[in-house]
Amino acid sequence: MSESTPENETTTHFGYQNVPVADKQKRVADVFHSVAQKYDIMNDIMSGGIHRLWKRYTIDMSGARAGHTILDLAGGTGDLTAMFSKRVGKTGKVFLADINESMLKVGRDRMIDRGLVNNIEYAQVNAESLPFANNTFDCVTIAFGLRNVTDKQKALESMFRVIKPGGRLLVLEFSKPVFPWLSKIYDQYSFSLLPKFGEWVTGDADSYQYLAESIRMHPDQETLKDMFNTAGFEDCEYHNLTGGIVALHRGFKY
Ligand SMILES: C[S@@+](CC[C@H](N)C(=O)[O-])C[C@H]1O[C@@H](n2cnc3c(N)ncnc32)[C@H](O)[C@@H]1O
Repeated sequence: MSESTPENETTTHFGYQNVPVADKQKRVADVFHSVAQKYDIMNDIMSGGIHRLWKRYTIDMSGARAGHTILDLAGGTGDLTAMFSKRVGKTGKVFLADINESMLKVGRDRMIDRGLVNNIEYAQVNAESLPFANNTFDCVTIAFGLRNVTDKQKALESMFRVIKPGGRLLVLEFSKPVFPWLSKIYDQYSFSLLPKFGEWVTGDADSYQYLAESIRMHPDQETLKDMFNTAGFEDCEYHNLTGGIVALHRGFKY
């Protein structure tokens, strides 16, 4: 498995398929254009609502407070942005940033519908090359997004650059279950039920097959922690959630 995709490599993985590096971004984009309108309902169905608890925990670990500037990267439909917006208040700011305009549009409409309009900015960005000045953010989060990025190490380095000294990065992502019995049940669920749910709700089984495969190709807990260290983060740690189905990684920039 290639955790990162250095520029001299010509292929990378898209789920279990090997694709030219230059094609991956477009294929990921097609997935999120296809599911954007039904993304939120699918999250609740797939996780039985538990994704809300994982996200709440992420906010609790963020240290965000009034006046902070936050980057919710790969923020999609804005679950974290909405919670951060309330935390940072009138004197703070949250950037909802995503590479995909369909996801961003659903996210922006959701924030407006909830009356969250005063402290949120929107940005269409690639996590690998963030268009923000050095030392801008008190906290950067990327929830269920890093898995989709072609060059993950480059993205972590880009995030490191834009975080202020004293700030932190939180990566919430699917990871490796810590109990063999859980892995078995989870594999059955992911490869038989998940694509069927995807087909029923979004009419797109392939995108949910990609989801199941991309989770298996993503770096495990310790590998991702090493990647944090390589990017320059310190005091790196992770917390397994729901038996390691998901992990929250955290690192600081000093
Ligand atoms: C599974 S969604 C997660 C959305 C949201 N963070 C959440 O937890 O509900 C993954 C998001 O990552 C975005 N994404 C994929 N590759 C990206 C990249 N290179 N840079 C920024 N965002 C990216 C997708 O467009 C999509 O909106």
